[in-house]
Amino acid sequence: MHFLSFTLILLLQMTLQTELHGAKWTYNGPEGEHHWSKRYPYCGGAFQSPIDMKSELLRFDPTLRPIEVQNYNLSPNEQLTLGNNGHSVQISLPSKMYISSLPHRYTAAQLHFHWGSSSRPAGSEHMVNSKQYAAEMHVVHFNSDKYPNMSVAIDKSDGLAVLGVLIEVGEFNPAFEQFLKFINGIKYRDQRVQVPGFNIRPLLPARLDEYYRYDGSLTTPPCYPSVLWTLFRNHVTISRKQFLALATALYSSRAQDSDPVPLNGNYRKPQLADSRVVLVSFNEGRGLHGTLTVTSPLRRKRIIQQLLVGDLADLADEGLSQLLPSGSETLHAGKKKDLKDQQSETLAKSKQQTLYPSSWKKSQTDRSVGKLGLAEDALCYSSLEQRVFQQLKLSHTENKLVQALRDEVFPELNLKSYLDCRSELSLPAIRHILRGRPTDEAFELDRSLTKALMNQRRISPAIKQSVPMTKDGSLPPATVPRKPHSQGYPHPWLLPMEWED
Ligand SMILES: *[C@@H]1O[C@H](CO)[C@@H](O)[C@H](O)[C@H]1NC(C)=O
Ligand SMILES: [Zn+2]
Repeated sequence: MHFLSFTLILLLQMTLQTELHGAKWTYNGPEGEHHWSKRYPYCGGAFQSPIDMKSELLRFDPTLRPIEVQNYNLSPNEQLTLGNNGHSVQISLPSKMYISSLPHRYTAAQLHFHWGSSSRPAGSEHMVNSKQYAAEMHVVHFNSDKYPNMSVAIDKSDGLAVLGVLIEVGEFNPAFEQFLKFINGIKYRDQRVQVPGFNIRPLLPARLDEYYRYDGSLTTPPCYPSVLWTLFRNHVTISRKQFLALATALYSSRAQDSDPVPLNGNYRKPQLADSRVVLVSFNEGRGLHGTLTVTSPLRRKRIIQQLLVGDLADLADEGLSQLLPSGSETLHAGKKKDLKDQQSETLAKSKQQTLYPSSWKKSQTDRSVGKLGLAEDALCYSSLEQRVFQQLKLSHTENKLVQALRDEVFPELNLKSYLDCRSELSLPAIRHILRGRPTDEAFELDRSLTKALMNQRRISPAIKQSVPMTKDGSLPPATVPRKPHSQGYPHPWLLPMEWED
């Protein structure tokens, strides 16, 4: 008896150890990215990163402030840990470094890289108009206003903020030399060395005011959608020799392993847009003409209020275009817009922006979210996963975990993101709200909306971007246009909702 329970505990501990430290995932082969979701269900879920910054996803947002970072200039007396974790090379960062220009303070934790190989110097995770860069750096920060440390923040929907820097092969970069010169000390997985502190700021591009902003995820398991992403518009360069040092010096296997596995090509492929849009802080330059300007949070709040308490019949009739993705709004531009409403809104917006340039958007959103009782608390992904798994176990459908989590998480993330102007309002999110409304009115609105969306899908190529993944949670390649399903419904999410109760 004692022996049995002891063995059980030992087994449990071993499983836990594998979960925590085994990190049995790779970028290729049987544990490659298409299999991540078996062990890490969020990897097959909503709002994943990286994405390809295609022009049809971009929305100009004039309220985006330049990124400001504090205490990035470290002294040589401060020791940093440079490590090889088998997936990347990582530098630990002291907690005095932080981002000061976001609604919360985000304290730095670590930075790491993703890169290609010597034969294929293309290994950035984010792409811009389908261009992949040689490498990419991520400076990872956690929301220290709300959470005590990185481990607590990592699975909260508002837990992390990552600064992404695209890296191109070109001129020699002295800043990168500060850690590259120690790279031969960490050739194998789990090796680490102490290196003197240096100025982290020159690892970022000179301009911190031009960037892409979107809601996304960790790009490695467990892929929690907890990241507020900032990808700088301007890349930095490293020399060919510096790139080769990164691409050829390291192994993803341990020193004692019999056959060494080179560590390169450690990037995840672009993920689906999932109704998200990408806000851009800049509005000039190549390919940006005709970039839509984001619609205001006031207008968005009003739409949600209408869905919650307004006249749904009116919405199904006159107001339908407000609920449709704005990529297609141009098709109906000005048709049914209330001019007076628009004018007062513009006035209110510009006034607020002048008075409170940094905080107006945030406060607007917070107030509306709070009052409406939506997404008031940040989602906690690991407890949600446990709860959903327990429910599925009761009905012996544990294998549906990926889809069940997605169904739970997507409407909440979409609503929050919509109020923050970083998403279009999706049909599942609208249905989520309509559950509390009179059945016949909700049915009428749902029917009109489904019909309108299906019509749009035929006209607008932009909407293809927001097609969510298939029901089994598999990820179709982002670049391949999806064939419509049979029965005239391009996706199960467009199937009319059943409203009987
Ligand atoms: C993070 O904070 C939690 C809660 O205060 C604590 O239990 C945990 O040990 C901390 N983790 C680390 C790695 O410091
Ligand atoms: Zn990364």
